[in-house]
Amino acid sequence: MSNKQEQPPQGVPYLSLQREYKELRDEWMQAIDGAGASGAFILGPNVRAFEEEAAAYVGAKHAIAVASGTDALVLSLRALGIGPGDEVITTPFTFFATAEAVSLVGATPIFADVEINSFNIDPVSVEKCITDKTRAILPVHIFGNPADMTRLNALARDHDLHVIEDAAQAFGAEHKSQRAGSMSDCGCFSFYPTKVLGCYGDGGLITTSSDEVKARLIQLRNHGATKPFIHVEVGYNSRLDEIQAALLRIKLRAIEKSITARRQVASWYDEELSKLDLVTPISTANNRHAYNLYTIRHSRRDALRDQLNTCKIGNSQCYPAPLHLQEIYAHLGYKAGDLPVVEGLCHETLSLPIFPDLSREQVAYVCEQVAKI
Ligand SMILES: Cc1ncc(COP(=O)(O)O)c(C=O)c1O
Repeated sequence: MSNKQEQPPQGVPYLSLQREYKELRDEWMQAIDGAGASGAFILGPNVRAFEEEAAAYVGAKHAIAVASGTDALVLSLRALGIGPGDEVITTPFTFFATAEAVSLVGATPIFADVEINSFNIDPVSVEKCITDKTRAILPVHIFGNPADMTRLNALARDHDLHVIEDAAQAFGAEHKSQRAGSMSDCGCFSFYPTKVLGCYGDGGLITTSSDEVKARLIQLRNHGATKPFIHVEVGYNSRLDEIQAALLRIKLRAIEKSITARRQVASWYDEELSKLDLVTPISTANNRHAYNLYTIRHSRRDALRDQLNTCKIGNSQCYPAPLHLQEIYAHLGYKAGDLPVVEGLCHETLSLPIFPDLSREQVAYVCEQVAKI
């Protein structure tokens, strides 16, 4: 606590975007006004400019804006020709949309176990899941920490598989100085408001360095049309609007500042929490963690969560149930004990408040409450 702060802060939100909104408001209002006056509301000049700017930032040849992160995954799978009869190896420790996208295109998600320290998909377990039906590996850069793309890409090369990065939580994260989304056939981003780069609604993006995949994605996002009213396949209505694209352009200009602020908050947590008997997130020398979430492991997670709730400290159990054991995938035949690492993690992980404007005093207050358990 600083000397100025005599009373502990009353609660800490899990996420607050209010100060950011105040800072951006004037610029965004001008952009909205510009979009309104131009009469271009969907896939207009702001979307095109944002696609170029995002591709340059990520380090991919192309970026294609779509309506959400879920759509980014679905369209990528479709663009790579993955569908019924195909298997896609993914992680059970993720938001449901990752596996849902595989199911939505008619393919089968195959779940590999995760690494205990990084929470990311384990390449050793992935290799054991490969069959002659496997078409792709779908790693998630969970919480903003990149998966081991070096080993996953090597496996994909050896077995002639596609790789799609679910980078929904990892805008600006890096593995060996390469940005998330630039290390595979397709990088999929979500701009849901809570993400590292978030808009004020739904939005998503696919990055790719293949001209062929880009052309297919552009077709798929607009009802499978090659030109107005001429349709060559069944596609989607998955288009980003000008107002969200205008906001994303403004926020992209400040993304490095925002990630640096997240990393500062994470280092305050690391410093305070490393004194306690719990496990803080790892960030290896190979990776630049974007800290979309700051997730700790504690054997008494539920008691910890109760303590934080009592003090009105926002938190989230990311993720309480591994996907392979969820009812919706009962038909795949997984049983408890099949993927022991992730099954253990789901009882131990808790995500603490993290966002660029979180103050050192707020972090200290959260850590004080954590220390009581
Ligand atoms: C890992 C992951 N994948 C996919 C998604 C889906 O993104 P969206 O909500 O934009 O559809 C999310 C969003 O929460 C996510 O966290």
